[in-house]
Order: sequence, then structure tokens, then C-alpha cells
Amino acid sequence: MSDEQQEREAQLVERVVASFDGTPDPRLKELMRALTRHLHAFVREVRLTEAEWQQAIAFLTATGHITDDRRQEFILLSDVFGASMQTVTVNNEAYANATEATVFGPFFVEDSPAIPLGGDIAGGAPGEPCWVEGTVTDTEGRPVPDARIEVWEADDEGLYDVQYPDGRVAARGHLFSDAEGRYRFWAIAPTPYPIPHDGPVGRLLAATGRSPLRASHLHFMVEATGLRTLVTHIFVRGDEVLAHDSVFGVRDSLVKDFTPQSPETPTPDGRDLAGRPWTRVHFDIVLAPDRP
Ligand code: BEZ
Ligand code: FE
Repeated sequence: MSDEQQEREAQLVERVVASFDGTPDPRLKELMRALTRHLHAFVREVRLTEAEWQQAIAFLTATGHITDDRRQEFILLSDVFGASMQTVTVNNEAYANATEATVFGPFFVEDSPAIPLGGDIAGGAPGEPCWVEGTVTDTEGRPVPDARIEVWEADDEGLYDVQYPDGRVAARGHLFSDAEGRYRFWAIAPTPYPIPHDGPVGRLLAATGRSPLRASHLHFMVEATGLRTLVTHIFVRGDEVLAHDSVFGVRDSLVKDFTPQSPETPTPDGRDLAGRPWTRVHFDIVLAPDRP
């Protein structure tokens, strides 16, 4: 490339960056200037053709068209680029032995059913019963009583309740840790499921030879006074999808042993499972201070 060409491209970057100089909000100014530099660097690095630029615009237009109150294709796009997970990583700084955070996902719903300690969140969702138990502590090892624990998951068909048209509420709920910070509940054993892939993001994954599957997981959101709210999942050790989770949500520390139990093994609370096998998992939750 000639010096003159280089100079023309570089000058354009500087002119656009300078166009944000008068931005009153200093943070917005920082964001717009950095975004400009990175965007131009990309266009220049790959020598973007005009046809490719048009294709990108068509892709974003399709992403907008499929997005509505129930379907957020832009978040999905951020997810498959790992941008959602990177934002979680940046904003949940590692702190002592605090449990790691991971992506929130689109399937959390406010006002989930309250379940007692030892209750069942399945609400009729198909799946193998799974006993989940553990403690909530702070990073000094002190028990956290009365922590609000929200849990939600897909059923055996790979679908969340909100993906069914019948308005069911299933495989979600909330409970509170006891005076010693302990919690326990019945859920269903997590299975892998695909993120919605019938839109532009699905086509992008197909064009790049990537799978839409998420590794099997159970979502948690844990809140307690004075401690940092934790949004995370636990994953199933041995799941083949762990290595290529479509939204890069897996952390080694969140992979847990879901131990299969034969139908003859007595359940921890005496529940009669009518001869069905079941699974159990232990997950100790450690919350960072709110403001370390
Ligand atoms: C989820 O885990 O529920 C999820 C996360 C990102 C995209 C789609 C689903
Ligand atoms: Fe999920």
C-alpha cells in the first residue's frame, strides 16, 4: 500500500475520532473514540469490500427484524461472539475464593415460584429428578443465612417454560438459605440444548461450522445483603459440549459432579420416586463482598 493511501486512511480515523471531542459526557466520549478506532482498524485490517459491508448491514437488519419482546437476537449475537461473557468477566473481578460468574442468558423470569427448603422446582417439567444441595458463605467462610437463591433450567426437551406457548411455569423457583447458610432442593438433571438458531445468528453459526449447543447447566442467581450478587450456572462434568459451549459460559470451577443414583438408593429426604433413577450434586456458593 502506498504511503499516500496509508495517510488517507489514517487521517480519516483521526477526523472521526476528533468529531467526538465535544461530547459533554466523558464516558460517552471515551466509548465513542475507542469504538471508532477499533472499527476502523477492523475495516482496514481485513480490507473490507463494499459487498461485504453491504452483507454485514443486511445481517444486522435481519437481526433487528427478528427481535421483539420475546426474542432478542442482538443479545444472542453478543453471546456467540463471547462479548456477553467478556462483559461478565470484566465486571465480576476475581475476588479470593468467590464463586465465578457466568452469562445471565435470556430465560430468567421475575416472580418465580417460592419453594421451601427441600422443595421441588420442576413443576411438572420432564426430566430425571436431581437433588441439589450446598452452602452459601462469604469469602471468610462465614455462613450466609437468608440468601435468596433463584434457580432456573431447561427441561429434558431442551426448552425453558417460556419457550412453550401455553404459559406454563416450570423448572424455575426461588428459596432462601437457612440459619447455617445451607440450602437444598429438587430440580431436574440438566441436559444440553441449542440456543435459538432459526434466525441470523443461527445462520452465522452454521456458516462458520459452529454448534448452537449450550453445555448442560443449571442457572443460579444468589443475592444477600452486603454481598455481591452472583449470577452463575453449574455444569455437568463429563458433558461432551463443555469444550464448545456456544456462548463461552463454561468455567472449570463451575463444572460439578452430577452423581447418578440407582432407583434403590434412598433419597436424602425420603421422597418416593416410584422406582426412577435420580442424580445428586453438591454446590457450595461463595459470595464476594459488595464493595471489596
Ligand atoms: C441460557 O443459558 O439460558 C442462554 C444463554 C445465552 C444464550 C441463550 C441461552
Ligand atoms: Fe440456560
